[in-house]
Amino acid sequence: MNATLKLQQAHRSIRSYTDEPVSDAMLDAIIAAAQRAPTSMNMQEISLVVVRDAGRRARIAEMAGSQPWIAQASVFITVVIDFHKTDLGVRKAGLAQLIQESMEGFGVAAVDAGIVLANLMLAAQSLGLGVVPIGGIRRDPQGMIDLLGLPPLTFPLVGLCLGHIAHDAPQKPRLDSRTFRHDERYDASGYSAAIDVYDETLKHHWREVTRSQGLPWSEALAARLHSVYFPQVKPVAAMQGLLNDK
Ligand SMILES: Cc1cc2nc3c(=O)[nH]c(=O)nc-3n(C[C@H](O)[C@H](O)[C@H](O)COP(=O)(O)O)c2cc1C
Repeated sequence: MNATLKLQQAHRSIRSYTDEPVSDAMLDAIIAAAQRAPTSMNMQEISLVVVRDAGRRARIAEMAGSQPWIAQASVFITVVIDFHKTDLGVRKAGLAQLIQESMEGFGVAAVDAGIVLANLMLAAQSLGLGVVPIGGIRRDPQGMIDLLGLPPLTFPLVGLCLGHIAHDAPQKPRLDSRTFRHDERYDASGYSAAIDVYDETLKHHWREVTRSQGLPWSEALAARLHSVYFPQVKPVAAMQGLLNDK
């Protein structure tokens, strides 16, 4: 296995960081790798806001639902959908941009944001840093918009903690690969059995890592997915001009 594959296979989210700063050289290299990500139609509708200030990271940690690793890790990067940037280009060419009001617009931006996020993570991990993505910023998107000074036509989609690792984390097991990879045709016939097995695997994992309050997969999902867990996304995105109604 080559070094890249090894790194990807070794992925685990890190939630314990030292206060050692990430050097400017490391951060610049990580962000340059992320900017090279492919982007739909060369739109480049993703921007990053880097927060290193401890007070601002502590504020984000609270807004994201009390996630102390955000205050701990020395860098927090917000991945922003930025249709403000593209709007300037469209206006320059003499037309009015509409894509931000469509489901296609939100979808395409979410895909591009995910690729940027993945590039950020792999680059950081290749330098020996730890990372954990933070969707929790969508708990209070207006708070993030105010803190980061985001203009209309933008939305803070996901964040990333990165920093030097204090305590490493064990890898979290995944569902059987047959629930992930399908050859030629989709086949969900093994899903229920795989979920039964995985619930037991995860229970065992939580015992191993002494997190007795950890839930089996199906129960953890049910606790989150029976409601819209971040209800502010739709109204705040709409106020930003990302209507998602076309
Ligand atoms: C888009 C995205 C958002 C996430 N948001 C959070 C978060 O807000 N807080 C957190 O602690 N972990 C978050 N995670 C990390 C997941 O919980 C983690 O990836 C998952 O439990 C699998 O564990 P692993 O990454 O260690 O393999 C997020 C992951 C992704 C991809």
